[in-house]
Amino acid sequence: MKTEGGSPLNLNPEPHAASDRRRLRGGAPIQIGLLGCGTVGGGVLRLLAENSGYLAERAGVPLVVKRVVVRDLEKERVSALDRGLLSTNPAEVVDDPSIDLVVEVMGGETPARELIERAIDRGKGVVTANKLLLAAHGPALLARAAARQVDLAFEGAVGGGIPIIRTLRDAFASDWVERVTAIVNGTCNYILTRMRDTGASFDAALREAQDLGYAEKPDPSLDVDGHDAAHKLIVLAMLAFGAQVDAAQVHTSGIRTIEEADHLYADRFGYTIKHLAIGRDLGDAIELRVHPTLIPKQSVLANVSGVLNAVLLEGRAVGPSLVYGRGAGDLPTAVSVVSDVLDVARSIASGVAGMQGRGMSIKPRRVRPLSEIVSRYYLRFAVEDRPGVMGRIAGALGDAGVSIEQIVQQGPTKRSSGAAAREPAVDVVLITHDAQEGLVRSALDAVAREEFLREPVHLFRIEEP
Ligand code: NAP
Ligand code: HSE
Repeated sequence: MKTEGGSPLNLNPEPHAASDRRRLRGGAPIQIGLLGCGTVGGGVLRLLAENSGYLAERAGVPLVVKRVVVRDLEKERVSALDRGLLSTNPAEVVDDPSIDLVVEVMGGETPARELIERAIDRGKGVVTANKLLLAAHGPALLARAAARQVDLAFEGAVGGGIPIIRTLRDAFASDWVERVTAIVNGTCNYILTRMRDTGASFDAALREAQDLGYAEKPDPSLDVDGHDAAHKLIVLAMLAFGAQVDAAQVHTSGIRTIEEADHLYADRFGYTIKHLAIGRDLGDAIELRVHPTLIPKQSVLANVSGVLNAVLLEGRAVGPSLVYGRGAGDLPTAVSVVSDVLDVARSIASGVAGMQGRGMSIKPRRVRPLSEIVSRYYLRFAVEDRPGVMGRIAGALGDAGVSIEQIVQQGPTKRSSGAAAREPAVDVVLITHDAQEGLVRSALDAVAREEFLREPVHLFRIEEP
């Protein structure tokens, strides 16, 4: 890069800043303790080893892994690990005064929470990718870190390798984010893409996602039932809307109920089914929900496939902005984690630790109940094929004040499971105009009392992001 006068712009003004940092710590390396060496921890060790020279240059001091804590000392690990560093005792990381920075990639709430708290209390910087923990205790942990003037960084917790945390915390700090529409669970997006594009079964696609290291361990129901995306939405809402939210306040549903027929009808109406996390700031309240959603086939988010994640932000001043990339897996997530390590290490080395969360305000906010949201709806009724059924469905919706935009009947449709597997049923599928969810639900309650209904109604909301 050249300056106006033609002389090179020095982005690393040696000996100035770097030597200042070295003076602050006497050039001593930043000592890192790693809690966990699985998919993400292995990726972290690889990146720290492969990029050590460059990272030391950026941090101003070398970054050295001093201890790696796991459960099983015998397990096979990445070759970047020096097995002599292994321990099963987390105290050797969090209580060791020579360790400056703790990287928590073990997952889960216990013992991760207590270990992070202990590390903060002992004045160590912390990097974590643990969205489950942040969703439950993020505001308290950030407050604890701020009080102790240490950094708590968590770029890897949402969107794997995509820089969404920094985008919200730093790049958009000058704007009001009004809406977040996100594909943040790589496992769900991978499964939905494989089912739609290759006709793979749900179980086969889930196994592939597990083999690729995308799914939560030990139980992928965190992914496929929507909880992982809900945890990430809570973390995003903390930064985007300054909201402290409890998981129970986020309407959460997963992808198990989506059938092949739903993909086919969605396509026929011009939509793709995506598992979305949606947040809106309405001023007096916020809206937070996670569910399968029909979005127009030509929209950007509809074309985010496989393990890719994307977060579409809408800022009052900036307008729409998209962050897009690989949302899970060892190296993509490790990129975010190691970038956090670099940031935190640089702050420690420069004597300015504790800047990351400074000035952040996170408060409880009212979350709008689902019954009050307004949306268009896709409804699929598997019904007996006899006269008057379509009229009764339309009547129930009409009585509730819900207007139909499009309706089709198709069948008989062969079902592999449920009551409809015994006898052929027909599908009545419709799209509503904008309606309040409470009214749609009361119409569905009326339909549920009808004897012609063969299985629970499939309801998906429609968004036009
Ligand atoms: P993982 O493969 O299961 O690795 C977890 C590691 O932590 C293992 O090395 C395990 O030891 C160790 N560990 C767990 N509990 C422990 C305990 N009580 N004491 C000592 N060691 C313990 O999990 P992962 O996929 O790397 O995920 C780690 C974290 O990153 C989670 O919070 C996850 O949500 C998050 N994350 C994952 C991804 C991804 O794509 N996988 C992406 C973003 C964020 P052993 O190896 O001995 O069992
Ligand atoms: N299980 C998560 C996913 C890992 O599938 O997106 C990344 O957070």
